[in-house]
Amino acid sequence: MKLLHLSDPHIEPDILHGIDSQLRFKKALEHIKKNHLDSDLFVISGDITHFGSEDAYKIFLDIIKEERLPTKLFPKLIIGNHDNRVNFKKSFTKTKTDENGFIQYTEAFENKLFIFLDTNKPETDSGYFCENRQRWFENELKKGIDKSIYIFMHHNPLALGDKNSDKIGLIQKDEFKKILLKYNKNIKHLFFGHQHITVSGQYLGITFSSPRSTWSPLVSNFSNKYRLGTANTDPNYNVVLIKENSLVVHSEDFLKTDINWFENE
Ligand SMILES: [Fe+2]
Ligand SMILES: [Fe+2]
Repeated sequence: MKLLHLSDPHIEPDILHGIDSQLRFKKALEHIKKNHLDSDLFVISGDITHFGSEDAYKIFLDIIKEERLPTKLFPKLIIGNHDNRVNFKKSFTKTKTDENGFIQYTEAFENKLFIFLDTNKPETDSGYFCENRQRWFENELKKGIDKSIYIFMHHNPLALGDKNSDKIGLIQKDEFKKILLKYNKNIKHLFFGHQHITVSGQYLGITFSSPRSTWSPLVSNFSNKYRLGTANTDPNYNVVLIKENSLVVHSEDFLKTDINWFENE
């Protein structure tokens, strides 16, 4: 299976911090069209827009339509801290929700189960995962016990560096950890976005990965003084190859130029 994981396009009518989020998102989609049309699933893990307006969601939808991706690659969407759940639902009437109206749902593919989570709480950049969402999540994990499970969420469920500098990660880290520990045998990978950095690793026996934003790529810092930084560096999205016994994550820096391919002999 080939899966595309793109995050944080931050679409807006206006240019944000000197970077055209619409243009970069279009370039990412064009790169996908040129190189990865054989993918089976395309996921955008939140911060679809920067201010969550209906206008911004319309622009996002128009870009998707203009780029004419095949139906199977219409992106599965979740929301991030920059999104607005009410406006999202008005714009994407077909996206499923859980019984409490959170944008949480599952998709089955062969023996795999993909679980999409909603960690948005209005008026804050931190991630929230209330008891109602936790209950739904555990229930879906229980139902998928005979499957390989893959989780998509916007916020990082663990601190990616110093704990004190992760105020905008998931707040309910302990509650989330308890759930993961119960099902870590079945959960094969955790996908998230939010921090705009390329990062991967392992948590509670589960591997994880996150691409940069297609809009504004950030770089990590390893001191207590700074959280993250901007730099003249590439945005990207991830291409994930899932086989019987492996999962490989490639980062596609879609603005790259002057490629010289080595031919297979
Ligand atoms: Fe973001
Ligand atoms: Fe975010």
